[in-house]
Amino acid sequence: MNYRHSYHAGNHADVFKHAILLRMAHLLQRKEAPFCYLDSHAGTAMYDLQGDAAGKTGEYLDGIARLWKRDDLPEMLRDYCQIVARHNPDGDLRHYPGSPQLIADALRLQDRMILSELHPEDAATLSAHFAGAPEVAVHMRDGYELAKAFLPVAEKRALWLLDPPFEKTDDLARCLKAMQIGIQRMRQTIIALWYPIKDERLLRDFYRQVSNSGLPKVLRVELNVRPADNTMGLNGSGLMLVNPPWPLWEELEMVLPWLAAVLAQSGSGGYRMDWLVGEP
Ligand SMILES: C[S@@+](CC[C@H](N)C(=O)[O-])C[C@H]1O[C@@H](n2cnc3c(N)ncnc32)[C@H](O)[C@@H]1O
Repeated sequence: MNYRHSYHAGNHADVFKHAILLRMAHLLQRKEAPFCYLDSHAGTAMYDLQGDAAGKTGEYLDGIARLWKRDDLPEMLRDYCQIVARHNPDGDLRHYPGSPQLIADALRLQDRMILSELHPEDAATLSAHFAGAPEVAVHMRDGYELAKAFLPVAEKRALWLLDPPFEKTDDLARCLKAMQIGIQRMRQTIIALWYPIKDERLLRDFYRQVSNSGLPKVLRVELNVRPADNTMGLNGSGLMLVNPPWPLWEELEMVLPWLAAVLAQSGSGGYRMDWLVGEP
């Protein structure tokens, strides 16, 4: 396990993923009934953007740094940027909340979360961070097993972020299998699977497999900051959203063009959104 998220925290992919994740949590919270958030590859909750790792790549400069202080933020991005701002009260961008912290900031008394992180050091940091928070359970276990271990949840409403590091060639296949198991165990689970876009040709099989997977509604949302045939690095990223809450589609239609323009790195940022399964 070589991947450390501290090198990438706050980059364009985090902005895209975190803003949409937070919005889905807020849409769930329109009902009083509790929900359970599951984060199968949680990372370490808080990242130091001025630390060695983030400083080495500077990726956050082309991510959260480009938008957190803008005064023309679309509504969906305002909540997300407000949380980032709350963690940086002196106005200097240093602390970046990862997915567990972002959702922890949004949880109500009736909600709870289950986190899993396999890297021993990151798991220890995560446990220490949430020590004394009874609504947060941290497990050092394989995130792909999370659905089997914890679904269905008593709350009957679940939001699950599946966000592996994609170090292994079979990660997409394992994600798809995990999502199928999750949906078999609790059909109404809302799942967000994040995936990198480097060379788009490599994703074609995956798209086909998702379309034929038997999953209920699946919305594909992608944001590119550079042309997707430039294989040099992370040109963009995508989210496969299973059972996305209404009216996320309509909201994303407004936000994605704005985000693509603000995060573009070569003047050619782009996005797409379509249903791979269900909902015309
Ligand atoms: C992309 S990062 C997570 C970022 C985090 N979800 C966020 O958005 O802030 C992926 C994390 O998964 C962890 N990891 C790798 N393999 C894992 C596995 N099989 N089960 C659980 N965690 C794993 C890595 O150590 C890394 O911290």
